[in-house]
Amino acid sequence: MDRFLRQAWIKPAVFVLCLGPLAWLAWRGLSGGLGANPIEAVIRYLGDWALRFILIALAVTPFRKITGWNALARWRRMLGLFAFAYVVLHFMSYVGLDQFFDWGAIGREIVKRRYITLGMVAVVLLVPLALTSTNAMMKRLGGKRWQALHRLVYVIAPLGVAHHWMMVKKDITEPMIHAAILALLLGWRVAALVRHNGGDSTVRASSCAAPCSSPPSS
Ligand code: HEM
Repeated sequence: MDRFLRQAWIKPAVFVLCLGPLAWLAWRGLSGGLGANPIEAVIRYLGDWALRFILIALAVTPFRKITGWNALARWRRMLGLFAFAYVVLHFMSYVGLDQFFDWGAIGREIVKRRYITLGMVAVVLLVPLALTSTNAMMKRLGGKRWQALHRLVYVIAPLGVAHHWMMVKKDITEPMIHAAILALLLGWRVAALVRHNGGDSTVRASSCAAPCSSPPSS
């Protein structure tokens, strides 16, 4: 499987797949399939995909370690950048479609609504990660500092889950599923770190226990 995943066409294919949710949104928009409140539908749809991509990007390392499909490491940066792109689109659809670029009103919402505050903090924290995702920035920062910075994702993901959870009034099934997936992904890293510090040399050599925010290989 690892050899299959290393084929040159796979990464562009994953790239196109990641554009799928946007294409589906465009199709729904053009065919009048966004329901009675299209603006809310667009904001929510993009928010859902932003969070999914954050979780997918976080899942790459555990999945790679468990399956031994090391080729997956080459997708991590791309998936992280897709997460950022969906977050920006989600945020911009709120700013442009919902608030008509009324920055004063947006500022008041950020202060007034706790879930918007958390979302905004997550966006702000994501910016340095996106800006330092290039090889040149990785080199400039150095591996250790780059890794430390990119551990911000362990704050961003819970903020994204909390942002969703806090806005839900009745059915909390979806945020609960997101929270459970996140707990598993973070729990795996904590376990890897404990094994690493416990002196298990095989884990130390292979588990990226520290905790797997190492620079992507491509
Ligand atoms: C990492 C950052 C963020 C993530 C992962 C995220 C994710 C989400 C998710 C999953 C939803 C729920 C979608 C649904 O109901 O199916 C949502 C809704 C929403 N988000 Fe975000 N969001 C983020 C940042 C922001 C920011 C910065 C703002 C605005 C400043 C914002 C404004 C909203 C609004 C207005 C809704 C819809 C609430 C409603 O319909 O009642 N989000 N977001």
